[in-house]
Amino acid sequence: MKFALINAFALLSAAALAVQAMPLTLMSRDVYTPPITYPHAGTVWTIGQTHNVTWDTSDPPVNITNKIGMIMLRKDNLTTPLILENSFSILLGRIEVKVPWVVDGDDYQLVLFGDSGNFSPYFTINGSGVAF
Ligand SMILES: *[C@@H]1O[C@H](CO)[C@@H](O)[C@H](O)[C@H]1NC(C)=O
Ligand SMILES: *[C@@H]1O[C@H](CO)[C@@H](O)[C@H](O)[C@H]1NC(C)=O
Ligand SMILES: *[C@@H]1O[C@H](CO)[C@@H](O)[C@H](O)[C@H]1NC(C)=O
Ligand SMILES: *[C@@H]1O[C@H](CO)[C@@H](O)[C@H](O)[C@H]1NC(C)=O
Repeated sequence: MKFALINAFALLSAAALAVQAMPLTLMSRDVYTPPITYPHAGTVWTIGQTHNVTWDTSDPPVNITNKIGMIMLRKDNLTTPLILENSFSILLGRIEVKVPWVVDGDDYQLVLFGDSGNFSPYFTINGSGVAF
């Protein structure tokens, strides 16, 4: 949440600067971050597996500011430095990721970044046998 807020503030101040600096034609661009539909609550992933992360692209705005997506891993309400996938089109609606070597836990989430970040529900990663 904190992360999302900071992002939103950064975006707002960037937008405020942009409004002063940019010509009118560039002002009609839209912030776009579609919601993650998989993994969902109750999903269990095992280390080393490959899964399609999916998100809802049914309603994209006409002028998307940033079409490049990135997926990062969160644990215990904190975004980790782990990037699961980067530099894909946010309009794809799905991307394969490999489950990384991490400690077992039921408090994982993904963040899908387009312009800002959207969190998935909490899900489980299992397989290391290490939990704390
Ligand atoms: C999209 O951008 C174009 C060119 O900048 C502009 O003419 C058009 O009005 C914009 N459309 C919307 C829905 O914002
Ligand atoms: C991901 O989705 C694509 C397209 O539906 C499919 O070809 C591929 O096998 C899927 N990958 C996994 C790991 O399920
Ligand atoms: C994570 O955030 C949610 C929603 O803000 C909160 O309900 C939950 O207690 C938090 N969990 C931890 C471990 O801090
Ligand atoms: C996670 O793995 C442990 C040991 O490998 C197993 O006992 C447990 O049932 C697994 N949990 C889930 C949710 O699959």
